[in-house]
Amino acid sequence: MIKFDFNTYTKNYFSELEYLKILEKKSDIISKFNSSNMIGWTRELDQSIIDDIKATAKYVKENFELLVVIGIGGSFLGSYAFDKLFRKYFNDDKFEVIYAGTTLSSEYLDELVNYLKNKNFCLNVISKSGTTMETTITYKVLKDVLKRKYNSEELKKHIIVTTDKEKGSLREEVNTLGYKSFVIPNDIGGRYSFITPAHLLPLSINYDIDDIIKGYFHGKRLIDRAYDYAATRYLLSKHGKVVENYCFCEENMLYFGEWLKQLFAETEGKDGKGIFPTSTLYTRDLHSLGQFIQDGNKILFETYIKIKDNNYYLEYNGKNLNDINNIVIDSVIRAHSEGNVACLEIELDKLTIENITNLIYFFQLSAAFSGYLFEINPFNQPGVEIYKKEVRKSLEN
Ligand code: PA5
Repeated sequence: MIKFDFNTYTKNYFSELEYLKILEKKSDIISKFNSSNMIGWTRELDQSIIDDIKATAKYVKENFELLVVIGIGGSFLGSYAFDKLFRKYFNDDKFEVIYAGTTLSSEYLDELVNYLKNKNFCLNVISKSGTTMETTITYKVLKDVLKRKYNSEELKKHIIVTTDKEKGSLREEVNTLGYKSFVIPNDIGGRYSFITPAHLLPLSINYDIDDIIKGYFHGKRLIDRAYDYAATRYLLSKHGKVVENYCFCEENMLYFGEWLKQLFAETEGKDGKGIFPTSTLYTRDLHSLGQFIQDGNKILFETYIKIKDNNYYLEYNGKNLNDINNIVIDSVIRAHSEGNVACLEIELDKLTIENITNLIYFFQLSAAFSGYLFEINPFNQPGVEIYKKEVRKSLEN
């Protein structure tokens, strides 16, 4: 169960009339959304794809020691953030999945190559365009490790490609070399691709993807809440609150914050518009950014994602530690709101696959609605292309 409160600590920042005006746009925005050709992520998956993912996960677990996933941005954050949420902090016993390709750190890659040298591993390279620099370089380096050990027939068994159905160099490689492959559909952009093989395959190694898929589509019922969230943020931004801080109280949620940052930054940040997303871990960051948030420039609002009951029953002075954490967070919300920071709250009764996948759908819907409220295209990312062009020019010289 998820509880939303976008009202208690925001009502001083805009009028009822302003809110009603945004509400009047709702049906128009929903029809714009419904007529977009980039909402393939609202469509149920074919059973044949689900079966193929499950069979491939079984093949990986039965034949290899570990899976190495290569991808960046929308081809990385969804499954990585989800996996972080549900692994144990210590002595985790899940199948080993390593993520690579998210930086050009030669130190990381060199250590990874050394680590993999004597391991029996499978590669899953994920790129919708098939041309992303970080992914291409990492794939080449790790494929070379395999090439040093196997002939081309053997190599084939160690590589799984997830990419566009027709375009890009990865698809060409699949067509010429016969690698196992999955498709990221044309009508789903990277940051909205959680419900595609780009994320479901890496997740299927350790999780029941039927639960993930069911929970994700169950998020559809939250459409009104999603509009409400988009509308509240939009109005706050019109009143100078142009930075949104996602606040977490559990360390394992930090990458969910990274996923949110990518989703909203790439969706809204265009034409000089949008809200800058950032994130904090409380109570840790009360001892650093907390000073600015409480007392600094009043450009911020906060969205808290709280877990009511985390199933751990440690006590301090006769009080449940999780309750203490929640009491502290509620006090922080009151303190920050006294410091002129608008606060929105989302409370999960527990950290479950159902709740998290509901939230993924909810946030994707909100981000898209928000794009239409800001009158920008929610599904492109022209700003990202500009750096890619510059890099290509420099590396070619
Ligand atoms: O959301 C997006 O579209 C981007 O963040 C992409 O996912 C990212 O740039 C990686 O692209 P690709 O999957 O083509 O390698």
